[in-house]
Amino acid sequence: MDKIYNNNSKKLEILLVEDDFIFAESLKDSLEDEGFNVTLVKNGSDAIKIIKNKTFPLIISDINLPKKSGIEILEEAKKRDKLTKVILITGYGSIEKAVEAMKKGAEDFITKPFNMEEFLLRIKKILKYREQEAQLELFSKIVNDKNIFYGIVGKSKVMQDIFYLIETIADSDANVLITGESGTGKELVANAIQMLSNRKDKPFIKINCAAIPENLIESELFGYEKGAFTGAIKSHRGKFLIADKGTLFLDEIGELPLHLQTKLLRVIEDKTITPLGSNKSFNVDVRIISATQQNLEKLIEQGKFRQDLYYRLKVVNIHIPPLRDRREDIPILIDYFIEKFSKKYNRKIKFTNRLINELISKDYPGNVRELENLVHSIIVVNKDKEIIDSTHFSPENSNKGKENYLFGVFDIFSPYHDVISKFEKIYLSKVLKACNNKKTLAAEILKISRKNLWEKLKKHNLG
Ligand SMILES: Nc1ncnc2c1ncn2[C@@H]1O[C@H](COP(=O)(O)OP(=O)(O)OP(=O)(O)O)[C@@H](O)[C@H]1O
Ligand SMILES: [Mg+2]
Repeated sequence: MDKIYNNNSKKLEILLVEDDFIFAESLKDSLEDEGFNVTLVKNGSDAIKIIKNKTFPLIISDINLPKKSGIEILEEAKKRDKLTKVILITGYGSIEKAVEAMKKGAEDFITKPFNMEEFLLRIKKILKYREQEAQLELFSKIVNDKNIFYGIVGKSKVMQDIFYLIETIADSDANVLITGESGTGKELVANAIQMLSNRKDKPFIKINCAAIPENLIESELFGYEKGAFTGAIKSHRGKFLIADKGTLFLDEIGELPLHLQTKLLRVIEDKTITPLGSNKSFNVDVRIISATQQNLEKLIEQGKFRQDLYYRLKVVNIHIPPLRDRREDIPILIDYFIEKFSKKYNRKIKFTNRLINELISKDYPGNVRELENLVHSIIVVNKDKEIIDSTHFSPENSNKGKENYLFGVFDIFSPYHDVISKFEKIYLSKVLKACNNKKTLAAEILKISRKNLWEKLKKHNLG
């Protein structure tokens, strides 16, 4: 039988979950002989831990396992990636369970003992089918308008609900608190609210409470009069006054020191501000959108955030879930960013399906920002390519490439001095070329004397 590789020429990975040691080892051997990369675990909870962090194209699992059952593994795998295929192994008498598993999306079940040749053929068919499904999904995910909302891309139900919520509340004056991990798009949501609000032609002032030193936040927000403190040589309009009739975006609100939280609360309640050192108050009409990646309720419990302020800020709360909880958004985000950077660099760019599949199955602890940066870096690294393939970007592969290149040039079992000398020759000729053959410059860069360089060049016939 042909060896089975995924379309990245890497071995296809299979997770095998089986507690019957002898059977498991022999199945693993057979699968590895066929060119698969097999991860073997012997109980259900270990399998689930692995699945939570990694997508497998195929999982073969016993139904009856210590700790968690094969059915639970099936459910977890499908939750992570519905394209994962699961084959369950049943012993005698557990056919009902197998039927239940099929209903829950298992691809197949086999009963021990079984014919290995036939089993391997079945696996091959299943994986081919999976490949076709993946292609279909790629075609059907072409971004349509309802999936982009004021620069926010998302087709998942939760993102669609957020779009609807933004639309509903944007033109009220209600304060909005946007929560979510770093990189989930909180600032984009704030922008969308502003754009849709009836304050859209009025000032939209952003201030990042984490980026401004604590002693400056107060004067930044509320302003000061000339002479209010040493160094206040002229008066300064605070952001609240500048934002009057408009919107103030307080980013990283969880970082606001407690005494300023008190002051902010007063401003919200009285709708007036008094700049530092001033005895005059000004009426202000400002809508506040705030954002945080912190859990404010926890901060309240710890006494680090005022509960009354919290309720004033979160008249409307928009929570953006991390990307791992809405993985169906990943494909259209990839498309969107490819298009975005194609436009930016005025290039025609296409990613191959295998690169896209690779990107789809990755984890993004840094959320959309990480995904965007990854697509961006792939595009800039592959500067001259119209069609970009996975092998051109994966740091794993490129390192391997470099290593292979070195091993190709040097026979590692040659005498030490031969290898070093060979390396020195390649190294020096590369430096010289980069310096347009200017030896003084090369010596300077290499931090050796001209004489020393000249001797080395002579030794290698590079002079
Ligand atoms: N749903 C999305 N659609 C398109 N781009 C997105 C989306 N979510 C985030 N981005 C992009 O990801 C990057 C980070 O988004 P943003 O700055 O809004 O995140 P954040 O939640 O404010 O993060 P942080 O807490 O680190 O400030 C931006 O470049 C933004 O354009
Ligand atoms: Mg932000």
